[in-house]
Amino acid sequence: MVKPAIEGGKPVREKGIEAFPKFTEEEMNEILEVLRSGRLTMSVGTKIREFEEAFAKFNKVKNAVAVSNGTAALHTALKAAGIGPGDEVITTPFTFVATASTILHQNAIPIFADIDRETFNIDPESIRERINERTKAVIAVHLCGHPAEMDEIRKLCDEKNLILIEDCAQAIGAKYRGRNVGTIGEINAFSFYISKNITTGEGGMITTDDDELAEKARLIRNHGESSKYHYTTLGYNYRMTELQAAIGLIQLRRIEELNERRREIAEIYNDMFEDVELITTPTAKPYVKHVWHIYNILIDVEKLRKPRDRIVEAIKKENVWVTVAYPNVLYLEPLFKHGLGHGKGCPWNCPFYKGRVEYRRGLCPNAEWISRRVITLPTHPSLRDDDAIDIATAVKKIVNYYRK
Ligand SMILES: Cc1ncc(COP(=O)(O)O)c(C=O)c1O
Repeated sequence: MVKPAIEGGKPVREKGIEAFPKFTEEEMNEILEVLRSGRLTMSVGTKIREFEEAFAKFNKVKNAVAVSNGTAALHTALKAAGIGPGDEVITTPFTFVATASTILHQNAIPIFADIDRETFNIDPESIRERINERTKAVIAVHLCGHPAEMDEIRKLCDEKNLILIEDCAQAIGAKYRGRNVGTIGEINAFSFYISKNITTGEGGMITTDDDELAEKARLIRNHGESSKYHYTTLGYNYRMTELQAAIGLIQLRRIEELNERRREIAEIYNDMFEDVELITTPTAKPYVKHVWHIYNILIDVEKLRKPRDRIVEAIKKENVWVTVAYPNVLYLEPLFKHGLGHGKGCPWNCPFYKGRVEYRRGLCPNAEWISRRVITLPTHPSLRDDDAIDIATAVKKIVNYYRK
C-alpha cells in the first residue's frame, strides 16, 4: 500500500495544479480594442448588446439580458417574475448559496425539496409534496452540468400555476431531451464566474422567451430607470461591463470545444475509477447533454477509516486539486437555520408571510446523505490529461489506503 503524503509518504505530484481560462493573442487584441476605445460601459459601447444577441442565438431563446454576475441574474429573474414578501419558492438545498439567498433578497421564503441520489438534482416528487397555496415559483438547478428532470417539473409548474426559473449557472450548453437549458423556465439565469463553462471573470445572463419579462429584467438591471433620471421600479446596478461582454463573445465562440474538453476529462475519471469499489461515479442520463461543469463522486464512508473531510484533506496533500461541492445542505447553514436573512426575523416573520418553516436535519434525507459523501473533481478545460490522471490517482490512492 502506497503511503499517503499526509502520513509522511511521497505525494502523487511534486507541485500543485492550476487551471485558468486561456486566451489567444487574437482574442486578447479584441479585448484591448474595447480598452483602446475607452467605451467601457453599456451606455456608450456595443459589446453587451452583441453578447446578448449572440447568447440568445446560441441558446435558441428570444431574449438574453446580460448582468454583472449569476447571483444578480437570479435575483433579477425572481423580481421580474413578481416574487416578493410572503411568497414561497421551492428549490434544492444541494446547490450554491445564491440559488436560495436570492429568494431571501426578494423577502420570499426558500422551501427546500429533496434531490435525486443519482443526478444530485431536485426531485419532482419532493417538489410536489411541498406545494401549497403560498408557493409561487420553483427554481430548478442543473447541478454539475446535468439538467434537472425538466419534463416533470415543467408539467408540475403548469398544473399548479407556478413560475419556473432555471438556474443554469453550471450548465451552459447543456440540453434536456434536445432542448437547451435556459429555454424551459419562464425566466432563467446563467453565470460566467471564472470556474463556469464559459467565463467573463464575473458575469451573468438572464434568458426568457417572454418580452415583457425581458423588459422588466432590463429595467431592474439598471436602477429601474425607464428614461433618463426617471424610475418606474425598484432596480439595482447589475450592469455588465463592455470588457466582460468582449470576453464573453470570445468565449461563446468556443463553447462547444470547451464543453467537449470537460467531457473528455470526465471520461478520463470514468476510466480511472472503473475498478474502485468504494467510489460511485456520476451518471449522465441518456436523454441529456451533460456539460460536466464539475465531476462529483460519492465515497462509501461506511467502509473507510476516516470521515470524508479527512479523506479530502489527505487527497489535497497529494498536491492535487479537489473540493467538496457541497459539504452541507443549505438549510443547515446558519443563514437559514437561524433565520438570519434581513435581521429582526425577516423575511420569515414578515406580516405578509402566513406560513411557518423549520429548517431542520432530516428535511431532505437524500441531500444530507450526499453531502456527507461527495468529493468534487475539477473538469476545467485547461487541465491536461496527466493532471486529470494525477487527480484520479491521488483519490484512488487515499480511498484504497483508508479502506477498512
Ligand atoms: C448553481 C449556482 N447558482 C448561482 C451561482 C451564482 O453565480 P455567480 O457566482 O456568478 O454570482 C453559482 C455560481 O457561482 C452557481 O453554481
